[in-house]
Amino acid sequence: MTRLHVLSAATRPTSSGRPLAQWVAEQARARGGFEVTPVDLAEIALPFLDEPENAASGVYAHQHTREWSALVDAADAFLFVMPMYNGGFTAPFKNAIDFLYREWQGKPVGIVSYSGGVTGGAPAAEMLLPVLTRVGMRPAGRSVAVPGIGGLVGPEGFEAPAGLAQELAGVLDDVAELAAAEPAAEAVTV
Ligand SMILES: Cc1cc2nc3c(=O)[nH]c(=O)nc-3n(C[C@H](O)[C@H](O)[C@H](O)COP(=O)(O)O)c2cc1C
Repeated sequence: MTRLHVLSAATRPTSSGRPLAQWVAEQARARGGFEVTPVDLAEIALPFLDEPENAASGVYAHQHTREWSALVDAADAFLFVMPMYNGGFTAPFKNAIDFLYREWQGKPVGIVSYSGGVTGGAPAAEMLLPVLTRVGMRPAGRSVAVPGIGGLVGPEGFEAPAGLAQELAGVLDDVAELAAAEPAAEAVTV
């Protein structure tokens, strides 16, 4: 069974994306084939990168880095549920990625982006792709973008618009396929 971590990449206490991430995790569980662990970046509460060594060294001075490393190590694959701020990915999310290196390598990743506007955060997801390949992740061919997030979250949580579950199913299939395939030989470039 593929250990899939569904990472909510938002850090604001009032994040609209948190209910979306919960819905995504439920969908992944319902699909089967995944052992799903929800991870909330706000709860991880990493500081700005404060490690003396480059992450590629794997030498970590701080307990918060060792804990984050263990959590990422424990996943076979990821779904990143990420907001868009000012046309791009958020600083805390990039910071969390930069904390580690080896831990990301070879891992399949699917992206669910969201935003207040009409793009659904697709530009932020596009911006993230070179970062993910740089740390050796294997991005899914398909992704999901959720526009107008503010209007989709109510007292009952996230209310999925028609067709979204099907779109997400495509991403989950891609991630499962990548997880089943042998990862390419690791090319560690520092
Ligand atoms: C700093 C900031 C910048 C934002 N920039 C954009 C933007 O460029 N385009 C857009 O459609 N929405 C933008 N929004 C709206 C967010 O995408 C929306 O509020 C979303 O809920 C943010 O995710 P979060 O609630 O998980 O923090 C911005 C929100 C914030 C807080």
